[in-house]
Amino acid sequence: MKLWTYFLVTTGLLAFTADRSEDDFVKSNFSFAQQQLKLMLRETGAEKALTFPRTINATGKMVLTNMYDWTPGFFPGSLWYAYEYTKDSKLRQQAVAWTEKLEPLKDFTRHHDLGFMVYCSYGNAYRLTGNTAYRDILVQAARSLSTRFNEVTGSIKSWNVFKSWHGNRNYYYPVIIDNMMNLELLFFAGKVTGDTSFRHIAVTHAEQAMKNQVRPDYSSWHVVCYDTITGKVEGRETAQGYADNSTWARGQAWGIYGFTMVYRETGDPRFLRTAEGMADWFLDHSDLPEDKVPYWDFNANQPGFTPGINSNANKVTGRYRDASAAAITASALFELSGYAKGKEDKYRKAAIRILHSLASSAYRAPAGKNGNFLLMHSVGSIPHNTEIDVPLVYADYYFIEALQRYNHLLTRAL
Ligand code: GLY
Repeated sequence: MKLWTYFLVTTGLLAFTADRSEDDFVKSNFSFAQQQLKLMLRETGAEKALTFPRTINATGKMVLTNMYDWTPGFFPGSLWYAYEYTKDSKLRQQAVAWTEKLEPLKDFTRHHDLGFMVYCSYGNAYRLTGNTAYRDILVQAARSLSTRFNEVTGSIKSWNVFKSWHGNRNYYYPVIIDNMMNLELLFFAGKVTGDTSFRHIAVTHAEQAMKNQVRPDYSSWHVVCYDTITGKVEGRETAQGYADNSTWARGQAWGIYGFTMVYRETGDPRFLRTAEGMADWFLDHSDLPEDKVPYWDFNANQPGFTPGINSNANKVTGRYRDASAAAITASALFELSGYAKGKEDKYRKAAIRILHSLASSAYRAPAGKNGNFLLMHSVGSIPHNTEIDVPLVYADYYFIEALQRYNHLLTRAL
């Protein structure tokens, strides 16, 4: 038997039996990440180039973005997590270099994704180095993000305009479920400055999302549009999902992760209930495949769900999986398993199952392939006809984060 022995641990509410071979699982995946990230560093060229890996194109060539896209923080963030586990000084040096390229973002206000952009990069940098210059950049970024909050809507405006797929209108105060993720930056800034306005904005936004973005059955709308005069909801549609009334898998994943994080920061049981409800909806869904890596939308091509006339989802019948949604969910479930009374086992086992699926040859790329990204088979946006069945830098980031969270669980268990 390969299982050396069993360890019983009690960590707070958690009684968990750990298998020693799982240490090897985590170790070998970090070693793979270390190898792929180093190959990617070679590909991405000069350290000073202001472009950031995102995916690959049809010919397998790396696609890079400028720093103002929503994804530049994930590559530095992955370098930080890989350094944290491996203690590889080359990864650390590169994590510093790639993070510091993002410094101009501290004053960025053109969309809501500053949380992803700076918290995954500078947030991890500050956590692992304690460098106060990084803390100050994070605080300034939180101030910039706060400028997008409006007391009437009680929400941070995600995008400046959202063009409906139905072709009939533009919305000027769209809020997307993804925005839950950007609140972590505000909670951080509130704690380090003592300025209560950050927390006020984060909690108010989360309350509005809980009320307007999460359906009574705990599935989710992607985009909720507000009227800034009345504060009322004037539309609920989708941008990246199949149909307005469907549930986009990554949106549901952002919700599970976001409400779990807001519960951690507030201790408010309403947010825990929402996180659990969204997690249960995801995990208990009859259409969730056995490996627990979801299709890109839980309702794609099903009766009762119709894409807007201008959406490319009308043309796509392939049942694509989204490894990014699975990775985000796995990471969230590890955290949620530490809070959810009576459901610890369910969430932890599901997180481990997802991680093992993603680390299998069905999703994890062969070494040196896949543009040196770790995971294959994610979906950026089928409605926009972009990034369909490709690697994505954020799938890798949340996969590595989930591995790190699993490692913490195993370490506590031992
Ligand atoms: N926040 C954009 C996405 O999840 O694709």
